[in-house]
This record gives sequence, C-alpha cells and structure tokens, in this order.
Amino acid sequence: MQEKKNIMDYDTVALDEERNAVVIIDQTLLPGRTELIALKTAQEIWDAIYLLKVRGAPAIGVAAAMGIYVLSREIDTKDFEVFYKRFCEYKEFLDSARPTAVNLSWALRRMEKVAVKAGREEGKSVAAVKEILRLEAQNIREEDIRVCRRIGENGLALVKPGDGILTHCNAGQLATIKYGTATAPIYLGQERGYGFRVYADETRPLLQGARLTAYELHSAGVDVTLLCDNMSASVMAKGLVNAVFVGCDRVAANGDTANKIGTSVVAAVAKHYGVPLYVCAPTSTIDLETPTGAQIRIEERPGEEVTQMWYREPMAPEGIKVYNPAFDVTDHDLIEGIVTEYGVARAPYTESLQKMKQDALSATSGGGNE
Ligand code: MRU
Repeated sequence: MQEKKNIMDYDTVALDEERNAVVIIDQTLLPGRTELIALKTAQEIWDAIYLLKVRGAPAIGVAAAMGIYVLSREIDTKDFEVFYKRFCEYKEFLDSARPTAVNLSWALRRMEKVAVKAGREEGKSVAAVKEILRLEAQNIREEDIRVCRRIGENGLALVKPGDGILTHCNAGQLATIKYGTATAPIYLGQERGYGFRVYADETRPLLQGARLTAYELHSAGVDVTLLCDNMSASVMAKGLVNAVFVGCDRVAANGDTANKIGTSVVAAVAKHYGVPLYVCAPTSTIDLETPTGAQIRIEERPGEEVTQMWYREPMAPEGIKVYNPAFDVTDHDLIEGIVTEYGVARAPYTESLQKMKQDALSATSGGGNE
C-alpha cells in the first residue's frame, strides 16, 4: 500500500506550465481529503479565491500572480496595447474576488507594473512580456518563502524554549508557500528543538484553525492542542500561554490590523492577562495608503457559513438573520509588535511601519515590494 503523503510536502500554490494552469490544494476539503485542482480560466481562479479553496493573504497573492500569468498567455495578439487592455480586464476581475487581504491587489499591481515597463516603456514584444510575467510570478512565490523564513527568525527571538503559543485562524504553510507567517517561529523552533506547546483556536465559522492549523502543525509533529474560540481566556488564565502569534490581511499605517474574525477578541483577552500579541506580517501586507483600521473594507460572507456549513443539518432557525464578517480589526494598542521580514515594528507604528516599508523598497530593485 502506498504511504499517505504528508500535507507539508504539497505545494500550496504552483504553476503547471505544460497545462497552463495554477495548481492548488483545495483547502475546503482538508483535512479529510487532499485534492489538487488545476485552475485555467479567469472564472475558475476567481471562484477558487472567493470560495477559499486557496486562502490566506500571501497564498492569495501568489495564486493571483500565477493566475494573471496563465490568463495572459491566452491573449492572442502581438500589439502590446491590445494585450494590456485585456490584461487589465483580467486583473480587475481577479482583484474583485476578495476585498480585505491587500496581497491580492498588491501582487496584481506588481504584475501590471512589470508588464507596462517591458511592453510600453522598453518596447519589448508581447511574447517577451509574457515571459517577464512568468518570472515575476515565480519571484513572488520564491520571495514568499524567504520572507516567511525571516519572519520566523524575527518571531523566534520573542519567545523561549518550552513556551506556550496561541494562534488564531490559519496563518500557516497552507496560507503561504512555506513556513506560514504566524507559524514560522513555531516551525523554526521545531527545527531547533524548542518544544513549544501550541494552542490553535478552531476559528468559526470556516474552521481554518481546526481544519488547517491543527492539521498542518500536527502533521509536522508539533505539540498542538485544539481550542474552541471561546476558550482562549481559560488557557491564558491558567498561565499556559506566553505569546500569541497571528497573521494579518492588511495592516493600516497606524498599526491597526485586519485579520480573521475573532482576532480582536483574542487580542483583548491577551491584553487582560498580560500576554503579548504579535502580528506576523510580510511587508507586502502593510498598506500605508490606508490610514487606520476604520478604512479597511471588511468582507461579509453568506450566512449559511454560520448556520449550515459543516453541520449535518442546519443549527439555527430557518430565516434567522446572520451577521458574518470574515475579518475584524485589532486596535494597534492591543498589539505588542508587528513581526516583519525586516524586524519587529513597535509603537508608534506610524513611524516604525514606514521604516519597514522603506527597508523593503530599498531591498528590491525595479518591480519591487511596495
Ligand atoms: O479567510 P481566510 O482563510 O483567507 O483568512 C486568513 C487569515 O485571516 C490569515 O490569518 C491571514 O490571511 C494571514 S495568512 C499568512
């Protein structure tokens, strides 16, 4: 009998050049089934992002970059302006799949920038532009691995062997290409024998904590305990948690941070118990154009995710009103530090985040991380 492949050995998002497709793990089926699906059309890519088959801010960015490359290959013209018009239509369509994670528009903008530079400014052929798009999509993917590892190093310096770490949602390998953001310090600690005890919130309503975080950490051999969302105060009151690491979908210029719904509750509880909460954020997730959390658009999703999904039968009265925001904003006052690939930003965030973005800009030549 063939041995079951470990979930950690799969690519979250990859490019299949031969089939001209973006290949993803369908995360809606995890942990029960591991199925890879090939996305070829704009609608398939949009649906996969909207339905959370691929999810997590950095993974969405990579999927969109690869997606727009795959779609651009099908644009049949030698005229750059004709190519560009079609490219922009695809870009806008993909960008509309989900509103909160800035990585989606960030990655698409970055792809557009290299296309314009090559095709319009440098007069390169459409064929050459397509090749440049392929390389940029691969760069975004490879960069994600390096960035997450550096977030891991910077986060690991904030904790010590044997610590208890609580996390919410899935900011793990399944939300990125490798290591994750909030889980990167945990995986690096695992490599170095730190023996962390991890608490994973199940994360209603889509259960990213139970289905994805608990699954991937457990598969990687990490000591992980699953909690219902309303149990974080209990473990903190018992002194079992030394730090909270969470991911994020958008960090505003003042440090207010949008992440999976319930993060702000964990942050308030952590503050009460004196447990530091760190937001792990690639600089691509910092959005200096959004001044505060109040301006972040929060995605609202169908009520059935709350009343029906995952249950054998509806668990709420028919016709009940449901409020289902997918994210909430954690006030910067509740955040001890924002861990990026360039170090840990601390209050006042308006200054420290600007510096992180500047570091990212200086480190990239051309197409860059802006
Ligand atoms: O709705 P999801 O599953 O895409 O939400 C994901 C999160 O909120 C993550 O914490 C965030 O995107 C960071 S992933 C490194």
